[in-house]
Amino acid sequence: MERSKLAKVKLPKEKLLELDAYMDSLEDKEGLLIHILHKAQEIFGYLSLEVQLYISKRLGIPAAKVFGIVTFYSFFTQEPRGKHTISMCMGTACFVKGADRILEKICLELGVNPGETSSDGLFTVKDVRCIGACGLAPVAMIDDKVYGHLTEESVKEILDVYRKEEQHENQHAESAV
Ligand code: FES
Repeated sequence: MERSKLAKVKLPKEKLLELDAYMDSLEDKEGLLIHILHKAQEIFGYLSLEVQLYISKRLGIPAAKVFGIVTFYSFFTQEPRGKHTISMCMGTACFVKGADRILEKICLELGVNPGETSSDGLFTVKDVRCIGACGLAPVAMIDDKVYGHLTEESVKEILDVYRKEEQHENQHAESAV
């Protein structure tokens, strides 16, 4: 993003204050860059370019260094994530049992490509390597729950459970107002 455009991006003030307070509480700020990035991801949900530049400026370190760390570690994300993360295993055991078709079905059902988030913000789809449950192939995890022996039919049923849960929560929230 160009600098001029970036200057106009406003990060929420209260979140910035929270991040500032955290940074101020650390002595070796530069040495604790990973911790700071973790905290920033917890606060903002993801590490946008604006957040990364803010941190580099605050710490007086090159933006390239911050960017390098964010892109190196897979637990950092630069995109907003959905409420639930679907991790479809594309390891060998799952692949031979048709994991590619299951992933395709999930993506079709949600209208996304791997790595993207559904437009309702409910799911982010990722393809991952073996998650160590090969006996249940093909396997996906939704957050930290494992779903094995997946079929193209069961995918929709599983997603519907989460959708219904979300509807329920929304209704609850509305009736509480
Ligand atoms: S290959 Fe999918 S769980 Fe091992």
